[in-house]
Amino acid sequence: MEQTLILVKPDGVQRGLVGEIIGRFERRGLKLAGMKFIRMSHDLAARHYAIHQGKPFYEGLISYIVSGPVVAMVWEGKDAVAAARATMGATNPVAAAPGTIRGDFGVEIGRNLVHGSDSPENAVQEVNLFFGAAELVIWERANERWIRE
Ligand code: RTP
Ligand code: MG
Repeated sequence: MEQTLILVKPDGVQRGLVGEIIGRFERRGLKLAGMKFIRMSHDLAARHYAIHQGKPFYEGLISYIVSGPVVAMVWEGKDAVAAARATMGATNPVAAAPGTIRGDFGVEIGRNLVHGSDSPENAVQEVNLFFGAAELVIWERANERWIRE
């Protein structure tokens, strides 16, 4: 089953939106496979955002993501990456549709509340960067057949 790495970024934690954000993925029908509350190190941030190294916003992005604790989660399901990104909304909250997390709670690209993996291949890398196999839970969801046919 496809998995995606989701982070509630430091602004989401500081603004008391953790429950609101988690609830949206939960209600969507994605299934939680792992979760932890951490302060990201510079090393982890640099590895996570390696693809953006050298871009004008890179330094600000790193200092933002290490500026406070984050909630790191693994959500799974068919097309979990695309479903999660649709729930998050466009990268720039100003362009994000109302009803999405960024469209409902954000106004600034550098304070866009959540991270979600952008492809199934990158999701595998990101899940492995944040979670060991023993930290991911395999469980049976009682209402599975009412969410997936
Ligand atoms: P994310 O990786 O956080 O889920 O966001 P994303 O895929 O929608 O956007 P991405 O292009 O991967 O950019 C990563 C994060 O960098 C910040 N950013 N700032 N100032 C800028 O032009 C700019 N562009 C990107 C955002 O916080 C974005 O989420
Ligand atoms: Mg990205």
